[in-house]
Amino acid sequence: MRVLILFLTLLTATVAHAGDPAAGKAKSMTCAACHGQAGISATDMWPNLAGQKEGYLIKQIKMFRDGGRTDPSMAAMVAPLSDKDIENLAAYYAGL
Ligand code: HEC
Repeated sequence: MRVLILFLTLLTATVAHAGDPAAGKAKSMTCAACHGQAGISATDMWPNLAGQKEGYLIKQIKMFRDGGRTDPSMAAMVAPLSDKDIENLAAYYAGL
C-alpha cells in the first residue's frame, strides 16, 4: 500500500511538471514572429529556440517575465504568461 501511494505521488508530481507541447504550440504564434515558425529564427538578432533544453527555456522565460533578465522585446511578450504557459512553451520548443 505504501509503495502504491509513493508511486501515485511520483506520478502526479511528474504530470504536474511536464509541459504540454500542443498547448505550447498554440501559444507560440506570437513568438514565431521573431523566433521562427519552427523555432529557428530568421536573423542574427533573435536566438533559435528549437531543441533547446526544456529546463533552460523555463528558467529564461521566467527570468524575462520576473525581471531577472531584461530585454525590451522579450519582456512585453512574456509578461502575460502563467507558469503553466511557460512550461508548455518550453516543452514545445524543446521537442522541435
Ligand atoms: C519582438 C521579437 C521577439 C518576440 C515576439 C519574442 N522574442 Fe524571445 N527573444 C527575443 C530576443 C531579441 C531575445 C534575446 C534577448 C537577449 O539578448 O537577452 C529573445 C530571447 C528569448 C529566449 C532566451 C533564449 C536563450 O538562448 O537564452 C527565450 C527562451 C525566448 N526568447 C522565448 C520567447 C517566447 C516563448 C516568446 C513568445 C511568448 C518570445 N520569445 C517572443 C525576441 C523576441
